Amino acid sequence: MSTTGESDTIAETPAQATTSTSTNRRQPYGQGFLDTISEGWAERPESTPPARAQAAYAAARRAAVSAAFPGKRLLVPAGELKQRSNDTDYPFRAHSAFSHLTGWASDAEPGSVLVFEPRDGSDGHDITLYFRERADRTTAEFYSDASIGEFWIGPRPALAGVAADLGVATAHIDDLEPGDDDLVLDEDEDLTRFVSELRLVKDEYEVAQMQLAVDVTARGFDDIVANLPGIVAHPRGERIVEGVFHQRARSDGNAVGYDTIAASGPHACYLHWTRNDGAVVPGDLILVDAGAEVDSLYTADITRTLPVSGTFTEIQRRIYETVREAADAAFEAAKPGVKFRSVHEAAMQVIARRVAEWGLLPVTADEALDADKGGHHRRYMVHGTSHHLGIDVHDCAQARRDMYYDGPLEPGMVFTIEPGLYFQIDDITVPEEYRGIGVRIEDDILMTADGPVNLSAGIPRTADEVEAWIARLSA
Ligand code: GLY
Ligand code: MN
Ligand code: MN
Repeated sequence: MSTTGESDTIAETPAQATTSTSTNRRQPYGQGFLDTISEGWAERPESTPPARAQAAYAAARRAAVSAAFPGKRLLVPAGELKQRSNDTDYPFRAHSAFSHLTGWASDAEPGSVLVFEPRDGSDGHDITLYFRERADRTTAEFYSDASIGEFWIGPRPALAGVAADLGVATAHIDDLEPGDDDLVLDEDEDLTRFVSELRLVKDEYEVAQMQLAVDVTARGFDDIVANLPGIVAHPRGERIVEGVFHQRARSDGNAVGYDTIAASGPHACYLHWTRNDGAVVPGDLILVDAGAEVDSLYTADITRTLPVSGTFTEIQRRIYETVREAADAAFEAAKPGVKFRSVHEAAMQVIARRVAEWGLLPVTADEALDADKGGHHRRYMVHGTSHHLGIDVHDCAQARRDMYYDGPLEPGMVFTIEPGLYFQIDDITVPEEYRGIGVRIEDDILMTADGPVNLSAGIPRTADEVEAWIARLSA
């Protein structure tokens, strides 16, 4: 899709200017411009950089796809620009599987397609990345196309440069012919599932990128804590939390991996509160769920819940430390070979037993934990405890249940542990002192052969650590 307002003005002269609504901002080009715009540009040296660090890993992933689909022609599109309104698009973000298989990430070109062409007489594929390389300056594209013209959006890549950078053959998108029997990502179930499951176990490049994303996120959380006085002073302090984190994610990474949740007071009980238009009030807790996405598109997904005034009240601390106990139990349960769902079950044991002790359940903890007849405690934590994490915040979403929730934990898997307790402001089944308190603690975990490693352990977690953190940075 071209959202340009200018690209069809190439041959237009002043006399052809129109008043139609679709062209109401056109600035017609005079003949002098048209006669001279293609000339007077310095030669651009062809850049053929050494292959980027991810290239060898992406090649191994492509080899796995090729081996799984012998004789099939496969198309993995990056996706297109998506219109926001009129001639304004959303920022482009390549399909996660495309990025995984090419290593082309925040710098990927919209409309690109990775093609696996089966070789005649053998099982392998010739693999080519098709994309629209930059137009040369004898064409109108570079000055008149607001979506892709270099005059508008800056330098764009050439075929040779991308081939060297990514270590894959390249061709112009106009040379790509669709075939009747193509298997296309997102249309073909088997291909979509395979590439999703291919991301369940991360390679060493991916693990390093995940740690990088967590480290940027940790700095973003430090920034929020350091800015607490200004956050409290603003009538829409939640927006300031979001903005402070976004500044760090943008300056040290590519973006945020998902919309930041800045949920103060009772907003913390709305699990995906992204409106972020509330005040941040001393005496309340603020739940911040945020993740920086680095240039390779890997994202962190971390939650911390902070006492706005710097110290937890007795009831806030009791709830907070119970959530931490559930998180620690989940971490202890996570071992190579155990089922992914054991992590959630361990957290639920703690949550059910504690809320039963507090007298919040109409049944015993054991009855609540009964798989068929129970579940009463889930009123206070309706979400799951863990999900895979990687290029997507909810990674590997098309993997089969047998490989995911009911599958074994394996070294190289990266996933969250994120229990919570949420007592809605209008939940009259709980004593008043609980109402309007929401707590989640979310960490990003790497499974290794020796057990789980908490990639985000450096961000204060315990109630005491959180209080000391606020005292240190925002006093
Ligand atoms: N930030 C969304 C989640 O924690 O899954
Ligand atoms: Mn999460
Ligand atoms: Mn989260």
